[in-house]
Amino acid sequence: MSQPMSAAVSTDTQGRIGIITLHNPPVNALSKAVRTGVRDAMTHLLQDAAIDAVVISSDIGLFSGGADISEFATGDVEPPLPDVLELIEQADKPVVAAINGPAFGGGLELALACHYRVAVTGVKVGLPEVHLGILPGAGGTQRLPRLTNVETALNMIVSGQPAAVQSLSGLTDALVDTPEALLETACNLAQAAVGKPIPRTSDKSVAAVPDGFFEGFRKSVARQTRGFYAPERCIRAVEASLELPFEQGLEREGALFMECMKSPQARAQQHFFFAERAAGHVADYDRDTPTRPIARVGIIGAGTMGGGIAMNFANAGIPVRLLEIKPEALEKGLAVIRRNYENSARKGKLTEAQVEQRMALLQGTTEYADLADVDLVIEAVFEKMAVKKAVFEQLDAVCKPGAILATNTSTLDVNEIARATSRPGDVIGMHFFSPANVMKLLEVVKADDTQPDVIKTVMQLAKTIKKVAVLVGVCFGFVGNRMIEPYSREANRLLLEGASPQDIDRVLYEFGLPMGPFTMGDMAGLDIGYFVRESRRDAIAHDPSYCVVADKLVEAGRVGLKAGRGAYRYEEGNRTPIPDPEVLDIARQEAERLGVQQRDISEQEILERILYPLINEGCKILEEGIASKASDIDVIYVYGYGFPIYRGGPMHYAETIGLDNILTALKGYQKQLGQYGQDWFTPAPLLENLAASGQTFAQWAKQRSQS
Ligand code: 3HC
Ligand code: NAI
Repeated sequence: MSQPMSAAVSTDTQGRIGIITLHNPPVNALSKAVRTGVRDAMTHLLQDAAIDAVVISSDIGLFSGGADISEFATGDVEPPLPDVLELIEQADKPVVAAINGPAFGGGLELALACHYRVAVTGVKVGLPEVHLGILPGAGGTQRLPRLTNVETALNMIVSGQPAAVQSLSGLTDALVDTPEALLETACNLAQAAVGKPIPRTSDKSVAAVPDGFFEGFRKSVARQTRGFYAPERCIRAVEASLELPFEQGLEREGALFMECMKSPQARAQQHFFFAERAAGHVADYDRDTPTRPIARVGIIGAGTMGGGIAMNFANAGIPVRLLEIKPEALEKGLAVIRRNYENSARKGKLTEAQVEQRMALLQGTTEYADLADVDLVIEAVFEKMAVKKAVFEQLDAVCKPGAILATNTSTLDVNEIARATSRPGDVIGMHFFSPANVMKLLEVVKADDTQPDVIKTVMQLAKTIKKVAVLVGVCFGFVGNRMIEPYSREANRLLLEGASPQDIDRVLYEFGLPMGPFTMGDMAGLDIGYFVRESRRDAIAHDPSYCVVADKLVEAGRVGLKAGRGAYRYEEGNRTPIPDPEVLDIARQEAERLGVQQRDISEQEILERILYPLINEGCKILEEGIASKASDIDVIYVYGYGFPIYRGGPMHYAETIGLDNILTALKGYQKQLGQYGQDWFTPAPLLENLAASGQTFAQWAKQRSQS
């Protein structure tokens, strides 16, 4: 008979086998209740003379998602997971882990501490702690190298990537094809182990590695791990598995785990873990809101964005009709997609057959009538309101009732686009980021009339095409591009005031961005920003210094990498930016013309001048309700703009600096920079309020939602 040890853990018996079952939905996190339950169940079964062996299993779809991350902030570790695992490993009765579904982090460590492991073929296992800014702290760094080998363990622990259980030689003692067969096989194995010597992982030795192995490994991951604190600690912990006896290795692991846990990066990455999931919690719909089936998609425009967007759907097995105005443009667009897929095939990421399967899902057309049966259309034509409106009028005429009509506009008013149709409730923004087949972010833009079922359908569809969706409201540039405006503006203004592009880029690169604003601008093409400025000259006319150096660069033909000259110069066929004194000359001339005094600018000023106005804009966005929570902004910046995840996103970063400190700095620049400071450095009222009250963004949002 099943006996609950706690709601989260129960025990049962099959003959002389005790079965401990984890039941802590949604992911069997090893919360205090689970750890206590497992400890008590083990203690009870080990004392029970009618029991010869133990099986640990789960009755939800996962074996376990690991330690309960929400408990990290509470500091309540009792009973510590390593102690519970020690109890299991030292048991004098054989213990078998029955791995029915994903086993991650502490969940896999629980399985590693058992004496035998049986798993369902295909189940994913991994030690993803590094993504939370920590390392496996319940023996994973010591037991995995013993069961598999150092190289496998190191790769898994430092990358945090899961692997299919059958690919890890040495990990399992038996594999079964279906979850239904698992328990019986586990019980048989447990029965057969009775009376035999108990194989404890801690008793195994670690196979040696060649000299220089760890240094070689460090070099091989240096680029991906740049700026991160935890990966080096992960490596040191695995090194300890070779250098030290098991017990001391565990101690070293524990010490390194605590170093990581105390780091600001761990807090930032754990914040981000929940931020990403919270982005999916949307107040505009609920569990009962229906969704619309999306079996067929139309895309208008096969340019840079349309092509990438189409690939997302083909990758998910969803057929796409791709519409262009001219057959040549269509052919070109399809050829680019094919080339992208073939490049992936050359790198071994796709088979030739998969390339053909995906291409077969993409059907080109120049006829709107061919969109009559699609469930969703995404428009990705030129960024011109008149062109977009004309497209939506035609879609309104041909699309079936209930089809969702989406625009990929990056700046334009989605309400105005919606009004070009007779069904504004079906219109929504789906703002992908370039390259659209690679970037994870999708800003879902809710217009005034967008229906809740349309929002829910698009938010869920994002998961199908492997995007992280964040719901935002309508304003110029939505969240991401609106906040990037002050970032670019300040980079340009600092150049005018005497900082060089390479100084500015270095500061941002060292902060953790993949590249600084000038390298990025040159890659994208400085003409893009120029055209955006052309469309809003009235709004910026009051400031003659606004991006004036960037304007002069474009007017001098220095449009970036594609011209071999931008904020830097480039040698033929080489993308490495080379500092160019001509750019500094242009900046000097413009500064003189405008009466701006050039000076030495400190790294601190560069960083604050570029990041704090971006954060200030984020505060305005929050207050206006364009983003519903600060953590949504963090998700947008990490997945859309390469903001270092170990800083948690700009709003989390702001809180680590202190909102009062950000406010003081902004006010300082407001004063220091004269009229320019008055124009651009006025603190957002929300920032003033929170700095005064000491409230966090989350506390403020909670209070607002309750009032
Ligand atoms: N602790 C607490 N909550 C967790 C959790 C965990 N380990 N894993 C997931 N959750 C929560 C999520 O926040 C989410 O909550 P919500 O519904 O309120 O937003 C809910 O569980 C469902 O999570 P997902 O939406 O991510 O569910 P999926 O089915 O898409 O994915 C998963 C499941 C693959 C297990 C994924 O949740 C995941 O990767 N979890 C984290 C795994 C991990 O990092 N484990 C290591 C933890 S640290 C550790 O074990 C330390 C040890 O070494 C000592
Ligand atoms: P693009 O110029 O590469 O592609 C636009 C395509 O639309 C061209 O192939 C053109 O022939 C086609 N087109 C124009 N009018 C059309 C019509 N009436 N019917 C059918 N096809 C038509 O432009 P890109 O970069 O792909 O941008 C498209 C949209 O995506 C714009 O709204 C842009 O703001 C937005 N966007 C662009 C991003 C980028 O980084 N390029 C990022 C996010 C959004």
